[in-house]
Amino acid sequence: MNGNGKAHPPNQNGNTANGNGNGHSSEHNGNNGNGHKTGFLAGSLPSRPSRTQPTRYAHIVGWGMKVPDKVVTNADLEAVVETSDEWIRSRTGIQERRIAAERDSVVSLGFEAARNALDRADILPTEIDLIIVATSTPEDIYPSTACKIQNLLGATKAGAFDLSAACSGFVYALNMASQAIRSGSIEHALVIGTEVNSRVMDWNDRTTCILFGDGAGAVVLTSSEDPGGLLSCVLGADGSGADLLGIPTVGYSALPEGKLLHKLHMNGREVFRFATHIIHESIEEALEKADLKMADVALIVPHQANQRIISAAARSLNVPEALFYSNLHRYGNTSAASIPIAMCEAEREGRILPGDNVVLIGFGGGLTWATAVVQWHKVAPPKPQGMSYKLSQSRREVLYVFAFWRDKFLKSYRRWEARLKGSPTKTANMRQEKGKPADAPPTPARRPDAAKAERKATPEPEKELEKN
Ligand code: UT7
Repeated sequence: MNGNGKAHPPNQNGNTANGNGNGHSSEHNGNNGNGHKTGFLAGSLPSRPSRTQPTRYAHIVGWGMKVPDKVVTNADLEAVVETSDEWIRSRTGIQERRIAAERDSVVSLGFEAARNALDRADILPTEIDLIIVATSTPEDIYPSTACKIQNLLGATKAGAFDLSAACSGFVYALNMASQAIRSGSIEHALVIGTEVNSRVMDWNDRTTCILFGDGAGAVVLTSSEDPGGLLSCVLGADGSGADLLGIPTVGYSALPEGKLLHKLHMNGREVFRFATHIIHESIEEALEKADLKMADVALIVPHQANQRIISAAARSLNVPEALFYSNLHRYGNTSAASIPIAMCEAEREGRILPGDNVVLIGFGGGLTWATAVVQWHKVAPPKPQGMSYKLSQSRREVLYVFAFWRDKFLKSYRRWEARLKGSPTKTANMRQEKGKPADAPPTPARRPDAAKAERKATPEPEKELEKN
């Protein structure tokens, strides 16, 4: 499946030459006929830019990450399960990982990563239109992690939701947000991958607990007329492999045998096999859709699962392993957070430069996979320095403090409103029918003529008895 248009689409919306992909020219121009802009966040369908509107591209203009302070080495794990530093290094490449402290949560890590990304983009949280969080370790099934981060940021204009696609989640979310920007319905989006895998580990299972770590990464996407940004995206799924990797939760009729509620399980060998071939196939497909060759690619940022998977993919694509960025020796597998964390570090190390074509490839539970080709913004974002940067940085800090008090105010306002006003539908209490217990369901209302007809058709029991 192609989740996106090509690098330089001939029209305004990344579809086909006629403007809307269905053979008809688009009549929509982003206005709803009464002078107001339409957008899917307001509940309407995405508006289509008209032929006169400029082509929109979704650029990554800010990025940030946050990992917990606590480092757990392979040697530390030798005390937890029967394993060895040598086995873990040679079979996975992992040397250490970060584990969330008691005070850390999937929300706090995601929030910090988002703050860093907003700082880098130098935009205010109140400018964000959409927040998508990719996570497999939310605090709640709902409310979403995205809503909680939205509240902490004070991103009062933003719609927010979580996206579940396991380790492919970040690239799925990047694509969704980019499409919303390209369609013209939003200007700025925040995409976050955040995980506390340590909380869903079965610490008796040496085949999984040595692999995973905690952390978060985020990017800010902005609409621009400059060609570039997300050039193409391939999203894929194969639910026939659903039982190979997962975290069971409450919806089962019966929990599958051998699986523990809220604990991660994985058939490592099968997932390994799937990963090595899907990386090759989906990268080739995404490059073709972006009209690019492997030689045009400056860096591949893969999901950080296993160094042996990366080596096998490099061999199979016939490219040097150095073309793949890897930091899994320091963080292990951080699921949906691994790609944005790796991207942040790659940029910091000078491995991604303005104008570079970068490939992001995620794969994991579902089974799912997602590959994006991104052209890094040619204009480097402002360096975090200078008077004007400091001013807008202070404004962001003030907004976070304001968001904290806004949250407190709204919570106590709701409490007082409930106390003072009571039920919002005071006068709408159900009339209790005579002879019925209070908890019996009310008799549905009938049309008067239906009641009459029914009376005629049904013989009255007393008269029937008299007849007999
Ligand atoms: O994020 C989602 C994507 N996830 C992945 O892509 C993970 C993909 N899978 C993998 O990375 C690898 O399959 C693992 C790292 C999980 C396992 O590596 P492997 O080379 O496939 O090992 P294996 O499962 O074939 O196990 C080999 C041996 C077994 O012993 P026997 O049966 O040969 O006696 C295991 O019991 O290694 C044993 N073993 C361990 N030994 C020491 C498994 N885990 C450990 C351990 N320490 N932690």
